[in-house]
Amino acid sequence: MPNVSNMADMTFEARLAAHGARVESRLGALLGRADGGAGVPERLAGAVRYGALGGGKRFRPFLVMESAALFGLPPERAETTAAALECIHCYSLIHDDLPAMDDDALRRGKPTVHVAFDEATAILAGCALLTRAFEALAVEERHADPAVRLELISALARAAGWAGMLGGQALDLAAEKDDAARMMHADIARLQDMKTGALIRFACEAGAILAGEPATSERRAALRRYGTALGRAFQLSDDLLDAEGDAARTGKATGKDAARGKATFVAVLGVDGARRRLDELEAEALAALAPFGAAAAPLAEAARFLTRRRH
Ligand code: IPE
Ligand code: IPE
Ligand code: MG
Ligand code: MG
Ligand code: MG
Repeated sequence: MPNVSNMADMTFEARLAAHGARVESRLGALLGRADGGAGVPERLAGAVRYGALGGGKRFRPFLVMESAALFGLPPERAETTAAALECIHCYSLIHDDLPAMDDDALRRGKPTVHVAFDEATAILAGCALLTRAFEALAVEERHADPAVRLELISALARAAGWAGMLGGQALDLAAEKDDAARMMHADIARLQDMKTGALIRFACEAGAILAGEPATSERRAALRRYGTALGRAFQLSDDLLDAEGDAARTGKATGKDAARGKATFVAVLGVDGARRRLDELEAEALAALAPFGAAAAPLAEAARFLTRRRH
């Protein structure tokens, strides 16, 4: 595995790939047979692995490892937290694609889990990833300090739960019935801050938690500000790709948000307005990183990546 020092000259894409390879290997162990997976029903294990391994940008794990690096922690100290968060993200995608939710048949260039397996197995696979994430964070030899383990677990539970990602998904589905063009900007922002922002904010703060940085520290507050702007930019860039991209690039169906009447800033501001908003959010994210100086260059690159992402 490359370490942070010889990663210094890498492009953002190469760095994303290097962290992605590390998290892929950690996920492979967490979701494999040896590491607690013996005796798991074959079909369930197959669906979990299908939904979590071998795909995705691994953007959230990148944020965990790079926020940890700001506090001097090497990637191996952050990889379990990164993998646990990615388990939650993959669970959210499996459930997001279900017929009762966005009803999508393509994800990461492959049939979605409920298409490749069946709906009940997809529901269970999502729940298995959700619970496995917390099991992984609780394991002692990975995080020596129990206070750190507890803080990671409670912060991730909050971010994933009903006041975070799950609640945002509920608002997203409820808003399908509203006229997006007439929705208040603040309502759309709240929905997106929850459904997408909460996990991304957690990713950005996780390095500080791992390093034992106090909750009241200014550096933690700066990471939360960065994570908020980045989460908004991330969903906006996803919504722009839905409007302008194609499935060959994104690995998922496009044009679906307008068809389903999703509450997005693309629906409200149009593509050009949404692009301008994305530029503003990039500037907000970069400004939030000021206290870290040059050390935050990889996180700054992550913000810049969102305006040019193609998948
Ligand atoms: C898609 O997330 C879901 C959103 C929150 C918009 P990603 O774009 O990170 O999906 P993968 O993990 O790369 O497939
Ligand atoms: C998903 O938002 C947010 C989640 C919490 C999974 P989308 O519904 O826009 O994500 P995609 O476009 O299906 O990946
Ligand atoms: Mg959705
Ligand atoms: Mg969706
Ligand atoms: Mg989308």
